[in-house]
Amino acid sequence: MNNKVTTAIFPVAGLGTRFLPATKSVPKEIMTLVDRPLIQYAIDEARAAGITEFIFVTSRGKGALEDYFDLAPNLEEELRAKGKDDLLHALQDTNMDSGAIAYIRQHKALGLGHAVWCARRLIGDQPFAVILPDDVIAAEKPCLKQMVEAYEETGGNMVAAMEVAPERTSAYGILDVEQSDSNLFEVKGMVEKPPAGQAPSNLAVIGRYILSPSVLRNLDAKSTGAGGEIQLTDAIAADIGTENKVYGYRFSGQRFDCGSKSGFLQATVSFGLSRPELRDDLAGYLKDLVPGLE
Ligand code: UTP
Repeated sequence: MNNKVTTAIFPVAGLGTRFLPATKSVPKEIMTLVDRPLIQYAIDEARAAGITEFIFVTSRGKGALEDYFDLAPNLEEELRAKGKDDLLHALQDTNMDSGAIAYIRQHKALGLGHAVWCARRLIGDQPFAVILPDDVIAAEKPCLKQMVEAYEETGGNMVAAMEVAPERTSAYGILDVEQSDSNLFEVKGMVEKPPAGQAPSNLAVIGRYILSPSVLRNLDAKSTGAGGEIQLTDAIAADIGTENKVYGYRFSGQRFDCGSKSGFLQATVSFGLSRPELRDDLAGYLKDLVPGLE
């Protein structure tokens, strides 16, 4: 098995209940930061890391996602005729090669591990990436690219890691590590959503993974874990102590939890401020709103 990663799974079959009622008809991944849906940020990050095969694990009510990646010939024609080249290029940048995307249904939201397992027949015997589009990471070098470069040296399994406040550890998969002074470190244990006070560290797993196909075999057992769900964390942890070691990678960049309302709003402000054409207007508004803001 080589260490080249060209396939990514995007599990997008969750119910998105934290954004109800919006997610009653709009998939969470279509929600927009400035003018691009969350899924577009995830796809761009994957492409930048060398991914050429994209697998979406979807569910009922996610038709808008498939439509988003279809061509829009009438719109393109209209923009071309009106000479709106900038918009035309923005639109064409979202086009995907025919056959590059595969859609698989997860019929029941049984957990992230189960969603990834649903894609097993499309993976074969190669390592693959998993990207959760609701974790948006702003970084000079895209997070998955950082990981792919590290992975070329290590092989095995790799999870993106970030320090979180001790009172937040029960919301994440948490790593047990011998030492973690460098950006890349070996993991000796993983626990999903540990009860308060029982976390082995405050190093949390964030939604970027590079995994060995052995993890899919571990998921065959369909064991349930925290919250009664089939957890990806548990299936990765089952590889610890085998030849497929598990590594944590502390990425450079700022992560926004766009699966939560507060994180989504913070990302909207931050991405808005990073756009030259919006910056002055938005910054002016924020300063008026919050006196004393620099
Ligand atoms: P979340 O824990 O954010 O769950 O899933 P959710 O259903 O999307 O949102 P809430 O908590 O109800 O608001 C993390 C990722 O795992 C995927 C989700 O689509 C999201 O990308 N997922 C989760 C699945 O694909 N299937 C599942 O059964 C569970």
